[in-house]
Amino acid sequence: MRKNLFIPLLSVFVIQLSFGQYEKEENLSNLMPWPKAITMGNSKFLIQKSFEVSVENDSNKRIYKATTRFIQRLSEETGVFFEAGFPIKTSSANPSLSIIYDREGELKLNEDESYTLKVNNKKIELSAVTDIGILRGLETLLQLVNYSSETFYIPTVTITDSPRFPWRGLMIDVARHFQPLDVLKRNLDAMAAVKLNVFHWHLTDDQGFRVASKTYPKLHELGSDGLYYTHEQIKEVVQYASDRGIRVLPEFDVPGHATAILTAYPEIGSKDTTYQIERNAGIFDPTLDPTNEKTYAMLSSVFEEMVGLFPDEYFHIGGDENEGKHWDENVKIRNFKKKNDIKSNHELQTLFNIRLQKILNKLDKKMIGWEEIMSPEIEKTAILHSWRGENEGLPDGQSLINAVQLGYHTLLSNGYYIDRMHPVEAHYLVDPIPGNSKLTQEQKKMILGGEVTMWSELVTPLTIDSRIWPRTAAIAERFWSQKEVVDTGSMRRRLKNVSLQLEKLGITHIRNRDMILRNITKTNDIVALLELSKVCEPLKKYTRNKGGTEYQTYSPFTLFADACTSDAEDAKEFSKLVSTFINQPNNKKVKSKLNQYLQKWSLLSGNLDDFDNPIINEIKPIANNLSKIAGILSHYVKNNKISPSQEEILNTYLEKSKIPIVDVELVVIDSFEKVIEHLKTKKRVINK
Ligand code: ACM
Repeated sequence: MRKNLFIPLLSVFVIQLSFGQYEKEENLSNLMPWPKAITMGNSKFLIQKSFEVSVENDSNKRIYKATTRFIQRLSEETGVFFEAGFPIKTSSANPSLSIIYDREGELKLNEDESYTLKVNNKKIELSAVTDIGILRGLETLLQLVNYSSETFYIPTVTITDSPRFPWRGLMIDVARHFQPLDVLKRNLDAMAAVKLNVFHWHLTDDQGFRVASKTYPKLHELGSDGLYYTHEQIKEVVQYASDRGIRVLPEFDVPGHATAILTAYPEIGSKDTTYQIERNAGIFDPTLDPTNEKTYAMLSSVFEEMVGLFPDEYFHIGGDENEGKHWDENVKIRNFKKKNDIKSNHELQTLFNIRLQKILNKLDKKMIGWEEIMSPEIEKTAILHSWRGENEGLPDGQSLINAVQLGYHTLLSNGYYIDRMHPVEAHYLVDPIPGNSKLTQEQKKMILGGEVTMWSELVTPLTIDSRIWPRTAAIAERFWSQKEVVDTGSMRRRLKNVSLQLEKLGITHIRNRDMILRNITKTNDIVALLELSKVCEPLKKYTRNKGGTEYQTYSPFTLFADACTSDAEDAKEFSKLVSTFINQPNNKKVKSKLNQYLQKWSLLSGNLDDFDNPIINEIKPIANNLSKIAGILSHYVKNNKISPSQEEILNTYLEKSKIPIVDVELVVIDSFEKVIEHLKTKKRVINK
């Protein structure tokens, strides 16, 4: 939480706040996602020991548990230890916070999540149609907490809020790297904090089948390396999510991405062979045999068993990236296609999907599949999950448009692939409803929302949080807030605060960086390496782990690249500073700040000299390049001139730094080049 953060007006905000009330925005710098309507008062509700919340007194209920967590978190945040540590009975005459709702919400699509929050200087009232709406409002209330030198308080305010999209998801792939329960639980806490409401659990893939099966036990016995969830654990996660108003959507990816299934039951594969759990990353050939009745017998039993664990009305069958190579190679499958006049592997997969849809219909479940399942023969109850785009050689958003034009509901994940390590804006500015489409209002309503995808080829429990957060909070704002909320400056400023809130919820994105760096230095002294990590980012767009074979699913990921994140903080700050410097070259303060950065970086290489082990020695060339450039540039900025020999050295090191080392790129090079270009141009102007 930070005071005095100035947030420029968002357009939705203007409606509510008149000019001259800017100063009150400092009270809103932790808010994310941005609410629908805010009317500020001009007073404060002080948080005192006597703070009490009234709610139904049934400790089994979602509302009671959520309120208890709220009281605890508010107390932690403020250091005010309340006299009442638990909610008091609804009949209490005058609680500080009264919670009023009409009914318990159901965890299903389109459930009412709206809420109204009224804070005056004596009392807070939170009302909603459902208890789930109350949960959303409690998160907002926590984000409103602020302080002065004497007290913690909540500004007086009225907020009315509801989500723009009903489906706001985070997918976590637990197949490539297994993620234990504590990882999932802390991520569910963080999801709830930013009002996400669907946890999509990618449970199976080539690299693992992660649920115990009683009907086909070899699935987990042979297909998981012993890394799977028991039924009790699945139920525990589903309950944990439910307590936070989050649905759990299981995914069993078939017919492709099925090496782990085939390792256990090769008899339903399309090739007469044995299989082994895949250790590398990529797209692989093993695929289920859609012409074999045993395939359907098994999927029918396994799905029936799994449906007992996952109460959600939807069930994700994957369906992506099945290239059908083993289908083409198999005489029996080729003959089947000929006999049944099936012209393509897509048609064959559609037959398979139709069978699965029938199985799921019987189990009272609706099917979801990645966009490859799209075919007019699939019943319209299915949801098509759009994920491909320009990276796959297709126009971004096209499959989403195709799906709604065919009459299907759809979800967007293209644009929200956070494992690609793009900066937060690249995701934040992707709207689930494509801006340039000619969709009708009715068709737009078929777009239910989106899902962030955390594919886990390159993450472990140690690093997964730093890949998901804080960027996912900004994407959550895209899914919840009005479409006009697109001020990236405001988003970035708020995200800094939200990042700290997430840490308080147990997210390890900040602290684990230090731990990885300590493993590299083998000492407690990580200052220099930490500075370096603030200007380095892991390679983007899957250029790390080229070919999918450099690292395996059991590789630990404790390298310098794993301590680095997208949006390297000093590089971002420096980039802003450079823009200001170019616009105001005579501003001494800006020039001095620029030089402080350059001087700091010029010393980095020397500060790493004392460390000597194989891991750190691989990193030193990055620091060396940075220090050389920063040293020369610092003189250049100070003196406005550079000798030809120094210029040559500078250029040499700039070129050297463009070549990634140990899976990271130095992301201040662009800024350096802008400074140099500016100094050169200035000189040309002076010389004229
Ligand atoms: C996917 O990324 N293969 C859905």
